[in-house]
Amino acid sequence: MILIIYAHPYPRHSHANQRLLQAVKDIPGVEIRVLYELYPDFDIDIKAEQRALERADMIVLQHPMQWYSLPPLLKLWIDKVLEHGWAYGHEGNALMGKDCLWAVTSGGDEQHFALGDSPSFAVLAQPLQATAIYCGMNWQPYFAVHGTFTCNEPALIAAGEAYRHRLMQYLMQHREQIAEQGSAHG
Ligand SMILES: Cc1cc2nc3c(=O)[nH]c(=O)nc-3n(C[C@H](O)[C@H](O)[C@H](O)COP(=O)(O)O)c2cc1C
Repeated sequence: MILIIYAHPYPRHSHANQRLLQAVKDIPGVEIRVLYELYPDFDIDIKAEQRALERADMIVLQHPMQWYSLPPLLKLWIDKVLEHGWAYGHEGNALMGKDCLWAVTSGGDEQHFALGDSPSFAVLAQPLQATAIYCGMNWQPYFAVHGTFTCNEPALIAAGEAYRHRLMQYLMQHREQIAEQGSAHG
């Protein structure tokens, strides 16, 4: 199962993320948790989030980039849900072996990220990548849609199709792996 943790603070103004979600929401085996709908008051149900994560093979963190980082509710979600003794530390192995995919949209194009001492977009993945690895997850190559400030309809359609393809491919490969493991043991 793929679990999409979706965090958009202004969902009614979204073009890119809405299109991405539309493109994948009917895939069997994909579950979407819309954080800003579930927790408008930022009062996160930690146990419910942990149960959902436990069911997942791949966890997707999907959001628009905000000031080179995460929307605040997603940051709080990480702080609250990835508890010591559950996600890391003594007996904290709930996420071990799961896959983690960052699905992010940005208003700027790749040039926009040519700032500072480490001028690249990829460097912005580092905090999430380190978090995933720290919790024993397998970090997947990220899925990014850049240039949403100037995105036209064909670009949005192409982004949705690419996202759908990415998730479908994961599910197919994952099912094949499970079938192979089953026949190896059986
Ligand atoms: C508060 C705020 C901060 C933002 N910071 C960035 C940024 O640092 N870099 C960038 O490329 N886009 C930035 N953006 C633009 C959003 O990333 C962009 O509008 C969004 O990814 C488009 O997706 P959507 O159509 O689903 O809203 C920011 C937008 C907001 C509202």
